[in-house]
Amino acid sequence: MSNDAAIAAADYAMRNWLGAEPGKIKIGSDAHKRLFCRMLLDTHNPYKPAVIVWPTLGADALHRITSLPIWDIAVQTEGRATLRVETFTKTVKDPLLVDALTMDGGEEARHKVVLSKLVEAYGIALAPEPEYEVPKDPEWGWLVTGYSECIDSFFAFGLFESAKRTGYFPAELVETFEPVIQEEARHILFFANWAAWYRRQLPWWRRPLFALKVLRVWTFLIWERIGIAKGLDTNGEMQDANFAMTGHEQMGIDLKVGELIDICLAEDKRRMDGYDSRLLRPTFVPRLARIARFFIR
Ligand SMILES: [Fe+2]
Ligand SMILES: [Fe+2]
Repeated sequence: MSNDAAIAAADYAMRNWLGAEPGKIKIGSDAHKRLFCRMLLDTHNPYKPAVIVWPTLGADALHRITSLPIWDIAVQTEGRATLRVETFTKTVKDPLLVDALTMDGGEEARHKVVLSKLVEAYGIALAPEPEYEVPKDPEWGWLVTGYSECIDSFFAFGLFESAKRTGYFPAELVETFEPVIQEEARHILFFANWAAWYRRQLPWWRRPLFALKVLRVWTFLIWERIGIAKGLDTNGEMQDANFAMTGHEQMGIDLKVGELIDICLAEDKRRMDGYDSRLLRPTFVPRLARIARFFIR
């Protein structure tokens, strides 16, 4: 196979996947666990960040890319996600789940390498990275990362597509970065199924506690994003955490919020469509977006 054909095959394989076990699958069963773990493991794209060729950008495009206020938070988010996933993985005993989580954490670490290469290639100055803290409650860290990705990826799908359509991101750069965005789609698909599986296999008396924890995570994430926490945070993190919501304004993309939501919804569906239909799709954020869309013209 030529190099181009191998790349195209890996790209197709990361987006399209059917489980080998036939028949109906009960959510929360062992077969369900095998399905979402195998999905993540089998669709891994083995690209190497070190060999990515970063396209030479014209002065305008270069300025647009380097002045985006997202690079610090992007690098730090990947760094924090890596540590949180790795910490949680150490608490898990099931070998297949450990393999899948190790893959997930490894991909987060690879995202950070991709970003650091991009930053280096385009001469973007980064703020020094903070010391990442090992979460005291590994499950809390995993849930925060998982649900954050569900919010951020949903908006990233739409922003990425808008930036592509308007030419804000040059086509070559879109192509280079595309696998990273699809990887986040796989991550939230994996996470949504893990959460449904995990809840169902807990003993009944632990389920309300878990539901409460999930509610606390969502409260934390919404609070963080709406920016009520402003002022509690001294390093400007809140402003950046809001990028998912205000990104299109900051990027100067001339788009109505309603149109952006439509693109997010369409892209979310498109990116999930290639995977086994027996897997659950992340639905909470798309549902909220649909409700919001109803009120936004
Ligand atoms: Fe990531
Ligand atoms: Fe991720």
